[in-house]
Amino acid sequence: MATSSGVVTNFKSMFSPSDLGNSKHCSFKHRRSIFNQAFAANVRASSTAFVETKQILKRKSTRAGIILACPICYDPLTWIGNPVLSVDSLSGCTLQCGTCKKSYAGTESHLDLIAASGAKNYNEPMPVSTEMFRLPLVSFLYERGWRQNFSILGGFPGAEKEFELMKGFLKPVLGGNIVDASCGSGLFSRLFWKSGLFSSVVALDYSENMLQQCYEFIKQEENFPTENFILVRADISRLPFVSSSVDAVHAGAALHCWPSPSSAVAEISRVLRPGGVFVATTSIVDGPFSAVPFLRTLRQTVRQVSGSYIFLSERELEDLCGACGLVNFSCMRSGGFVMISAAKPI
Ligand SMILES: C[S@@+](CC[C@H](N)C(=O)[O-])C[C@H]1O[C@@H](n2cnc3c(N)ncnc32)[C@H](O)[C@@H]1O
Repeated sequence: MATSSGVVTNFKSMFSPSDLGNSKHCSFKHRRSIFNQAFAANVRASSTAFVETKQILKRKSTRAGIILACPICYDPLTWIGNPVLSVDSLSGCTLQCGTCKKSYAGTESHLDLIAASGAKNYNEPMPVSTEMFRLPLVSFLYERGWRQNFSILGGFPGAEKEFELMKGFLKPVLGGNIVDASCGSGLFSRLFWKSGLFSSVVALDYSENMLQQCYEFIKQEENFPTENFILVRADISRLPFVSSSVDAVHAGAALHCWPSPSSAVAEISRVLRPGGVFVATTSIVDGPFSAVPFLRTLRQTVRQVSGSYIFLSERELEDLCGACGLVNFSCMRSGGFVMISAAKPI
């Protein structure tokens, strides 16, 4: 099996590291044109990848459904009753931890696998950057205009382009299972599943309203394949998966929203199997902003008030991944937008 660096090498063989946006001296226009070239090349490569992966999928499909774990003990959960891994079978289902015996219930739309699930009198507010997305209005608006604004505000190229780009990074793990971490209303989770490139998809978010939106989008779609696709409510810093059981973790536009990016990436590192791939998108505030005095102090204030973490350089992201045990870091940039990838060592 190829390693994640194989994908990066594809890009690197076409473009020098500075072309790929690693150089601070690279102009915005230049970066955008390189980004578009890389994108076009990746689209061409991904159509052939699709045919190849149909075969991989057949081989690996037995892996689906064996990864859910108790968020307290990290030991595997056992299904009580109908053990079918499907959006349609979550309502009324129960999972139990063999070690601590805690039970976790499914709702109509998702499985609630946060550590405090079932607590009646305990309520733990998260930072604004997490709580905001739990609001019904924000969840409703997210795919109805909110997400599209990321192109204007953060230089995000848009869901379709982002999906094509990330497929290149995910090539070594196509056919395996994928967790769409902080999936929001499931924009990418649904694309992952409909592409047929993965054997199972877990759409995971802390916001029950985002998951509800995802569920409703699925229900509105005709012939959406619901088996081996589930929605899970969980905290990114306490992932309900068995260690080394996940082939790929994707996190779109979420790293900067997490209460502790390092606890989250450490968790991602724990659940990835050796050779498993982490791919994420976020924004970097540098370029003209580098001249803003006291930028680090400003960042600290933003973090205290909103919980959002502002990344100031690609090196910072590389350091974060490396410190959490991931290797083969690579990234692509276009203006403030960055897509990063790193892998669990083999
Ligand atoms: C900007 S949205 C990104 C949604 C989607 N991935 C995308 O690319 O559009 C950020 C998401 O992170 C989720 N989030 C924030 N804090 C979280 C946490 N502690 N655990 C899990 N998800 C969290 C929010 O609920 C929200 O859905």
